[in-house]
Amino acid sequence: MKKIGVLTSGGDSPGMNAAIRAVVRSALAKGVSVVGICRGFAGLIERDFTMLDSLAVGNIIQRGGTILKTSRSEKFKTPEGRERAADNLRREKVEGLVVIGGDGSFRGAWELAKEHDIPIVGIPATIDNDIYGTDYTIGFDTAVNTALDAIDRIRDTALSFERIFFIEVMGRLSGFIALEVGISSGAEEVLLPELKTDIDEICRDIREGLRRGKRSYIIIVAEGDEQGGAFTVAEKVKKKIDIEYRVCILGHVQRGGAPTAIDRILASKLGSKAVETLLEGVRGVMVGEVNRELVTTPFPDTWKKKKPIDEELVRLIKVLS
Ligand code: F6P
Repeated sequence: MKKIGVLTSGGDSPGMNAAIRAVVRSALAKGVSVVGICRGFAGLIERDFTMLDSLAVGNIIQRGGTILKTSRSEKFKTPEGRERAADNLRREKVEGLVVIGGDGSFRGAWELAKEHDIPIVGIPATIDNDIYGTDYTIGFDTAVNTALDAIDRIRDTALSFERIFFIEVMGRLSGFIALEVGISSGAEEVLLPELKTDIDEICRDIREGLRRGKRSYIIIVAEGDEQGGAFTVAEKVKKKIDIEYRVCILGHVQRGGAPTAIDRILASKLGSKAVETLLEGVRGVMVGEVNRELVTTPFPDTWKKKKPIDEELVRLIKVLS
């Protein structure tokens, strides 16, 4: 391979830039040039390309977001869109592609790879951490720490005012952020899409806490919980116990900011591994880290298989709150 492409797609996450940097510099070190594809699959269809040399990825390891920009392309979901994308890669003489994103991006990449016989390797980057084949995704650690910082602050006012706070964290389909943030903030309750939420049980816990003299509560709600977001859950609880509560939605704050060291290191390792994998002729896989070892997982497994939540953390929330 003489030339490869790299793009970021779907929800951006802190550490994507560190991954781009690692892809570019690892490829250059092996005599392979790199085309940056701007705005994800949308830019691939519109031939929004830029050559990336070593200097182009300088001074970005510490920056959140993605210098290549990102999108969710509807056109790319059509065979015609993918046909144009493949044409553009051929015309640019790009022989392999690195896709940095989440499972939605890998599904698109897999269709393109199958239909047009293009070698593609994925790098898992999403704050949600909901991808099978890697213990952690790039951006998750930063998002957890950002949310944690905010929750520590909320706890100060919750304690002073003796209030119950319902704090919503991101995770449309998964509760990984909620669970880790719940444990590390010492939250009293954590509501996850992966587990059934029982409003009566939450009310029982609150009553029991009040009886023991507890006066403030932090309840973490993953945005995808089946009982609804934090506002809805708070109202459901309020109907059963007369409490004064406040709601805080942390929202997109969790997606930005400088990546933590953990995310920068993971991004550097996976970026380099992705290039190595492509050059070895392995294709249609995602690179990841499992039990501290770099591994590859076939694209379809990354969305068909489900990464389990840590049951021990769920148990600990109950014991430690
Ligand atoms: O990046 C993943 C994620 O943060 C989800 O947890 C969230 O529901 C979603 O993105 C929101 O993204 P957007 O506002 O870009 O649609």
